[in-house]
Amino acid sequence: MKFFLDTAMIDEIKAANEWGILDGVTTNPSLVYKSGRPFKDVLLDICKIVDGPISAEVTTLTAPEMVKQGTELAKIHKNIVVKLPTTVEGVKACKQLSEKGIKINSTLIFSASQALVMAKAGASYVSPFIGRLDDVSEDGMVLIDDIRDIFDNYEIKTEILAASIRHPMHVVECAKAGADIATMPYSVFQQLIKHPLTDVGLKKFMEDWEKAKH
Ligand code: E4P
Repeated sequence: MKFFLDTAMIDEIKAANEWGILDGVTTNPSLVYKSGRPFKDVLLDICKIVDGPISAEVTTLTAPEMVKQGTELAKIHKNIVVKLPTTVEGVKACKQLSEKGIKINSTLIFSASQALVMAKAGASYVSPFIGRLDDVSEDGMVLIDDIRDIFDNYEIKTEILAASIRHPMHVVECAKAGADIATMPYSVFQQLIKHPLTDVGLKKFMEDWEKAKH
C-alpha cells in the first residue's frame, strides 16, 4: 500500500519524507489556503522534496477551463497529477487530459458509480472521501470495498486513493479492503507507528540495559 501525505505544509512533508516511506502528496484548495502561500510555490517546493505523484487541483468548473488549467499545472513538474472534480465537466476534461498523457486524480468521490465513470474516462486515480461519508452516517469503508470489487471485476488499472482519512484505523481498514493508496494528514501518519506498549517496553529495556552494563 502506498502512503501519501494530504497537506500543503512543507515542514510536514519534509518531516514525513525523512522516514523514507512517503510515496506522494495530495493537496486541495483548502489545504493550500491553510498554508498561506501561493499555489505554484507550494507545488514547486513539494516536487523538490518528494519524488512521487503530487496532486494539484484545478479551480475551474467547465471542461475547457479545466483542460486549460490542468495542462498548465502539468507543465510545472513531471510528477504533477491533475486533480479534477467528479462532475460531468470533470469527466469531459478527464477524457481529454488523459488522452494527452496527463495523469488525473478524480476527487470528491462519494459513490461507486462516480468511480467507475471516472475510471472509464481515463483517471489514473479515484479519490473516495471516506471520512466525509462517515461524518454523514454512511460507512466510507463500504465504498472502498465496492470500488475494489468493481475494478477487480473488470481489471481496471485506475488506483483507489483512499482520501479524507481521519485516524489510523481508516488506514488499516483501507489496507484490508485493498485500496492502493491512503492519503492522510501528517498527524495520522505519525499515529500509524505509535503504540503506548512500545514506549513502555522500550523504556524498560533501556533501564535494564543500563543496569546490565554494571
Ligand atoms: C484528498 O485528496 C483530499 O485532499 C482530502 O483527503 C480531503 O479530506 P478532508 O475530508 O479531511 O478535508
